[in-house]
Amino acid sequence: MLTRVRRADAVALDEAAALLVRGELVVFPTETVYGLGADAANRDAVAAVYRIKQRPAGHPLIVHVLDERLARAWSVWSQRAQRLAEAFWPGPLTLILERAADAPAWACGVESSIGLRAPAHPVARALLHDFTRRGGIGVAAPSANRFGRISPTRAEHVLDDLGEDAPLILDGGPCEVGVESTIVDLSRGRPVLLRPGGVAVAQLAAVLGEEVLERDAHAPRASGTLDAHYAPATPVELVDAAQVPERVGHWRAAGRRVALWSRSVPSSIADVGVSMSHDARTTARELYDTLRRLDRSGCDRIVIERVPPTPEWRAIADRLRRAAASS
Ligand code: TXA
Ligand code: MG
Repeated sequence: MLTRVRRADAVALDEAAALLVRGELVVFPTETVYGLGADAANRDAVAAVYRIKQRPAGHPLIVHVLDERLARAWSVWSQRAQRLAEAFWPGPLTLILERAADAPAWACGVESSIGLRAPAHPVARALLHDFTRRGGIGVAAPSANRFGRISPTRAEHVLDDLGEDAPLILDGGPCEVGVESTIVDLSRGRPVLLRPGGVAVAQLAAVLGEEVLERDAHAPRASGTLDAHYAPATPVELVDAAQVPERVGHWRAAGRRVALWSRSVPSSIADVGVSMSHDARTTARELYDTLRRLDRSGCDRIVIERVPPTPEWRAIADRLRRAAASS
């Protein structure tokens, strides 16, 4: 397949919407990460997403819609969904809802529910607008990376990861939020958090006027919640600030090259160093690009300073834990 990165101007958007309607794939930016999109109603197109992403068949995709009206077409809309959509759509929030009878089950893996999100990125919205005008309802799109790897927050990340398999890539610049959407399951009586992300749990609870439960053993399968995920090829180690110099020294004494991402320790103590911002939003925005850079730096180990255990760092802490889990 011909690989094309295109600036997301009106001509490229129009072409992209036409490709989607014809059953082709398109990579597009959202405010969280880039998505590998297909017309959710087209079974073969959705199958191509699984193939390119190398994602196991049972794992459901998020279906992206322009707005609540289209979300209602494929779900059993509820009062809670209404409240959350009013407060956070368009935005970095995915709602898991009971699926309507004519919704595309093939985009939902083994689940009997459906994941829906209205993204806020102007390019995603323009694409969904054109797609909807041509009769489309929703675009199924996982993050545009191979299964288990680091999510892309820039067009060039998609190209690095998907290579020859990449379809048309709409370039909308770096993603503003930088970590994936928050996923809340509304299909099981009480609201349950499946993945921390761009919207904080406390914000959800405030809007719902009730507690959002943490996921438990009965929670549905979500690949973004698998332990080893978002992982660089280089082993990653998460270390408390006070232990960073010792860990870096340990590996260097053993003859290993060490890449370091730290807030409190000067990056000069490592072979390759990047300093981490003290601001959680900035760190989220830089997260996946930094992981990719450290992974490509030719080092044998990546040492990352643990982030604060506070709500604004939660999504970052979650992704870093998973990046380190398989090391
Ligand atoms: O920010 C995001 O959410 C990005 C952008 C592209 O929208 N998308 C994303 O998609 O992260 P993906 O496929 O990489 O992760 C989607 C997560 C998976 O963990 C999947 O299992 C879960 O959403 N999911 C989707 N539908 C579900 C359902 N019906 N029940 C449970 N989990 C679901
Ligand atoms: Mg993903």
